[in-house]
Amino acid sequence: ESPTHNTEIKLKKICQLLDQEISYFNWTGFYFKNGDKDELKLGPYVGAETDHTIIPYGKGICGQVAVSNETFEVPDVKEQDNYLSCSIDTKAEIVVPIFKNGENVGQIDIDSHKINPFTTEDKEMLEWLCEEVGKII
Ligand code: SME
Repeated sequence: ESPTHNTEIKLKKICQLLDQEISYFNWTGFYFKNGDKDELKLGPYVGAETDHTIIPYGKGICGQVAVSNETFEVPDVKEQDNYLSCSIDTKAEIVVPIFKNGENVGQIDIDSHKINPFTTEDKEMLEWLCEEVGKII
């Protein structure tokens, strides 16, 4: 399920663009289903290095989106029990699933250093973006 090298370059550019354009996007990256395992594997990203290169389905915000098939917006990560901390600076997070042929194959994950930073437009833009990504992976 891993994207090809060419696709990875495109996904990295998307991360760079989002990171540059939106000041409160402070970690922007993709996770994809790791082969036939029920776990996510870190893909292209921009931001601080993370220990969470593999995330089992169900664990953390990312792992929950892998099973719920729905966007998960977290305005304040302190309110979440099932949360995997990447950085103490992270205050909020949004994770949007990516579908290919109707199957949940990955996600985009954005962390912010601001509490409750994400707008309706951000959510809609990310959902649109993930639809487009689903067509090229
Ligand atoms: N916070 C995520 C883990 C991934 S890092 O944010 C990059 C989670 O709870 O799943």
